[in-house]
Amino acid sequence: MSETIRPSVDLPTDQDLVLKVIPMPADCNANGDIFGGWVMAQVDLAGSVLPARQVRGRMATVAVNEFIFKQPVRVGDILSFFAKIVKVGRTSITVKVEVFAERFRSQGDYIKVTEASLTYVAIDENGKPRPIAA
Ligand SMILES: CC(C)(COP(=O)(O)OP(=O)(O)OC[C@H]1O[C@@H](n2cnc3c(N)ncnc32)[C@H](O)[C@@H]1OP(=O)(O)O)[C@@H](O)C(=O)NCCC(=O)NCCS
Repeated sequence: MSETIRPSVDLPTDQDLVLKVIPMPADCNANGDIFGGWVMAQVDLAGSVLPARQVRGRMATVAVNEFIFKQPVRVGDILSFFAKIVKVGRTSITVKVEVFAERFRSQGDYIKVTEASLTYVAIDENGKPRPIAA
């Protein structure tokens, strides 16, 4: 199978590495690539890490503002999830997430595979929005 060779990119220096994971065959779609829903679940988890440090309690994902699958994800890729808070509102926090893959047998070279923006809301015991402490 041929593949367009893409140059390796530098990893972000202004974002936090919040998750690393390697997808397995059980995470594949019918094409043999990794199922987009699996990637979205990992991005949702990765995006929650920085807000969790401010919210310090229950929160919920209220919106996926943008989600771009730039390149397929493959079995055996080492995925690195970088995140950055872009907005803190009264009850919500919006995060940018970028995902980079090190392909099998090309570890050390990074390709951006996904980028997304998600918003999380701090919620109280009744599931209602609550203010985020300054
Ligand atoms: C999250 C939830 C509690 C928010 O309740 P709500 O009554 O819609 O909240 P509000 O309209 O008061 O908005 C709360 C915050 O979310 C933000 N928000 C609401 N809808 C949004 C949207 N579509 N996009 C971005 N931000 C949004 C608001 O701007 C506000 O932020 P701020 O206080 O920082 O200004 C409620 O929508 C909910 O329970 N949703 C389901 C969450 C869930 O189950 N997530 C998992 C998906 S399976």
